[in-house]
Amino acid sequence: MTQAAPKSTPAPLAPGTWVGGYRIVQKIGAGGFGIVYRAVSPTGQEVALKEYLPAALASRASGDAPVVVARDKRALYRIGFRSFLEEGRALAQIVHPNVVSVLNFFQENDTVYLVMNYLEGASLQQFIVTSASLNHAKVLRESTIRSLFDEVLRGLRVVHQHKMLHLDIKPGNILVTDDDRAVLIDFGAARDVLNQDGKFLQPMFTPGFSAPEMCKRGKPIGPWTDIYAIGACMFSCMKGYPPPDAAKPDCRSKLETMVQDLHGKYSNYLIDLVLSCMQTDPQARPHSVHSVQKILTTPPKTVWRTTGIYEYEATELSSDALPPTAALRLGRAQQP
Ligand SMILES: Nc1ncnc2c1ncn2[C@@H]1O[C@H](COP(=O)(O)OP(=O)(O)O)[C@@H](O)[C@H]1O
Ligand SMILES: [Mg+2]
Repeated sequence: MTQAAPKSTPAPLAPGTWVGGYRIVQKIGAGGFGIVYRAVSPTGQEVALKEYLPAALASRASGDAPVVVARDKRALYRIGFRSFLEEGRALAQIVHPNVVSVLNFFQENDTVYLVMNYLEGASLQQFIVTSASLNHAKVLRESTIRSLFDEVLRGLRVVHQHKMLHLDIKPGNILVTDDDRAVLIDFGAARDVLNQDGKFLQPMFTPGFSAPEMCKRGKPIGPWTDIYAIGACMFSCMKGYPPPDAAKPDCRSKLETMVQDLHGKYSNYLIDLVLSCMQTDPQARPHSVHSVQKILTTPPKTVWRTTGIYEYEATELSSDALPPTAALRLGRAQQP
């Protein structure tokens, strides 16, 4: 490593590059923490390779050049590096259909790589954007939202059981696979905070999805922080856009106003669940993922505001057996 200051987005590894025995096929994403590639393992398996390369701390002039970290950024870079590696280690212990599988992790090129199984599909964010652009009364159907989040919550429950938090749950970090699974990805912001004593790094703040305690130093962060984000994701599935930023004043009253026109389209039960998950006071939220699951999977009491919608919901529930992505692909996520 040299001492030049990072100036621009680090260059990705070129297709065909070998790293740790894996052959890079192409870059598929880049974010604050690094670059994600589609790659092929030594045994020919298709994998997703995530390279730790935070743009704010490191640079790389070209795919075959060394990683450059400015001297004054090195301590932070190393902390992130270790944390990325620890996350790989922790995630590798979780084997669950609704959590991305970490197959391997290794150090090379002055950085660290996570090898994950490659998931064919699209993010929930892409589904929301597509559905919202159709301008139907509902963005996603209630039955779709229920089955989708039932899966996400199964994954999140296991993450919490392993004393991890996700801390960046948002529709872009939920992949809906072509074989009909909702999978939590991107644990880049996750920290083993439940076991930590004092050495806590403030995670990224994503407006709309991050809970209010994420923007205030000293406020405890815990499973309730992920539960807030789950509520925010369900809100997005109903409205087609994110909820108000929890760091801004009047967030709660804006949220309550924004859900008004959802009554009649979705059950009060689901709307109340969103409002409850997104309470400003963590104590007022459901106390665990399990309690959110119980509410979500209880059939709605169908306290509808209009009889017409009641009749519509009655037919909709009969198709609940459909897995979420089948419903999405068949276009059933939208209005009939
Ligand atoms: N296991 C995976 N399989 C397929 N695509 C993936 C996988 N992990 C990440 N991706 C793709 O890479 C993008 C970025 O990955 P992500 O882990 O969310 O990192 P970040 O948001 O920090 O850049 C995702 O939106 C997705 O398109
Ligand atoms: Mg992401």
